[in-house]
Amino acid sequence: MHHKPIHADRLPALLRAMPKAELHMHIEGSLEPELMFALAKRNNVPLRFADEQALRDAYVFNNLQEFLDIYHAGTLVLKTEQDFYDMAGAYLTRAQADNVLNTEIFFDTQTHTGHGLDAATVVNGLHRACTDAPAKFGMTASLILCFLRHLSEDEAFECLEQVLPLRDKIVGIGLASSEVGHPPEKFAKVFARARELGFRLVAHAGEEAPPAYIWSALDVLKVERIDHGVQAIHDATLMQRLVQDRVPLTMCPLSNLKLCVFPTLAEHTIRRMLDAGIMATVNSDDPAYFGGYINENFTQTFAALGMTSQHAYQLARNSFDASFIDASTRSRYVERLDGVFETFL
Ligand code: ADE
Ligand code: ZN
Repeated sequence: MHHKPIHADRLPALLRAMPKAELHMHIEGSLEPELMFALAKRNNVPLRFADEQALRDAYVFNNLQEFLDIYHAGTLVLKTEQDFYDMAGAYLTRAQADNVLNTEIFFDTQTHTGHGLDAATVVNGLHRACTDAPAKFGMTASLILCFLRHLSEDEAFECLEQVLPLRDKIVGIGLASSEVGHPPEKFAKVFARARELGFRLVAHAGEEAPPAYIWSALDVLKVERIDHGVQAIHDATLMQRLVQDRVPLTMCPLSNLKLCVFPTLAEHTIRRMLDAGIMATVNSDDPAYFGGYINENFTQTFAALGMTSQHAYQLARNSFDASFIDASTRSRYVERLDGVFETFL
């Protein structure tokens, strides 16, 4: 939809009101300190922080690994199916407030099976929240299981095996955790197997690691979307490939800021990539840790980069076009997006 630009004063309200999809959000990274303390109490799990504020004060990271260490510690409070249901319910409540109409939630089972939980406890709790989402929150929600790339491919196969009885509760497979030193091709065989099983495929690539990781996510793993992908800007041939094949990039500006991928939001490459024709989207990654949910990512990024209502429309439209939803749901959501833009004109 082409429209005349909406005045900058009304842009934050438009960014908040516009219907959108969230395609890159790790549910364990949505666990707010308040719920973490409540679950710690409910499950008798000790926390090494005195209170919520002391925990929040520890959220200062120099890189991805420093974040992953504290994120991992936070997952220890999750024990029961109800815990996973409650955590997902809290996220869906926030997502609804940000006018998210479709969310494709990342989760990992390996973190939790490593603590002695069953994969089914995790999947069933999260899936029940997704099933309730249309009636409770007026939105669609589905699940993408991420393998942890710092673990071996054999362990990823074991993880895949464990969720096969729950196959119908999971739409896709992804790849997360420590990127540098764990390239996509390490998981070539298990992604090929997931593909045969009919899973949609995505992978984190080019968050901290070089463009070669994006190439191998595309050409070896054959993923349909790249999570982050910000490092593609350093490879002109890759940029062309992403534009030509309309490969969606699920970008997370506040995450990149908090993990020092960019020194400031003003230096973020999302605007340049969008203007180059790349199918970028805006997402929150780990909103409890990075200072904001999806609308905060939109408003801060637009302010820092001087982006316009045309960019806003493109990003929201991309989020629906890149979603793993059926064609009729997609057109309903795009109609609602167009409707909101029309009321703002
Ligand atoms: N797990 C949670 N958030 C992540 C990120 N931004 N990169 C890799 N793994 C993650
Ligand atoms: Zn992520």
